[in-house]
Amino acid sequence: MVVASYAVRVELLEWAQRTSEEHLSGSLPRRWAHVQGVGRRAQQAWALFSGEEREILSAAAVLHDVGYAPDLATTGFHPLDGARFLASVGASARLCGLVAHHSCAYREAELRGLTAGLTTWTDEVTPLRDALWWADMSTTPDGQVTNVCDRIEEIQKRYGPEDLVTLFIRQAKPELLAAVERTEERLRTAGIDYTAK
Ligand SMILES: [Fe+2]
Repeated sequence: MVVASYAVRVELLEWAQRTSEEHLSGSLPRRWAHVQGVGRRAQQAWALFSGEEREILSAAAVLHDVGYAPDLATTGFHPLDGARFLASVGASARLCGLVAHHSCAYREAELRGLTAGLTTWTDEVTPLRDALWWADMSTTPDGQVTNVCDRIEEIQKRYGPEDLVTLFIRQAKPELLAAVERTEERLRTAGIDYTAK
């Protein structure tokens, strides 16, 4: 997934890709397709960041859903399970924080009574964090490019009207849209065509 024209350190990226593949590709192939798509989407925002930041953005993109892996799901709340797993294997607090708080996870944590666990890590509230949310919220479950409104609608349909995830995504929508809009404004300002599939 490394594009030669950009300067990045590959060690973390390679580890992230390998780790994600190891935990998701066999048991959850659709989730594996999704995180690869989010990784590709994150690359489209690389020009906004320094080499080290590109690396952490892409690592977070491919690992953000690792907590869904059956062998890692302990609480059943994937941002928390993913961050705890990453911390247990020595990932940086920044990477754990990005995974723990991706795509407005704190709101779902509130609904699940898991806020205390999540606040082990900080939501950095930066352009990089916005770009991660954007990449996740503009990638379909199969890894294709979409837009945030279709993505949110698909989540609500997939989980159904009574599900906690549907309630969460409704509550989180303004913050998700804001992070996406901030990122797309940054991309437009930088002259990047983020509509490319
Ligand atoms: Fe995701």
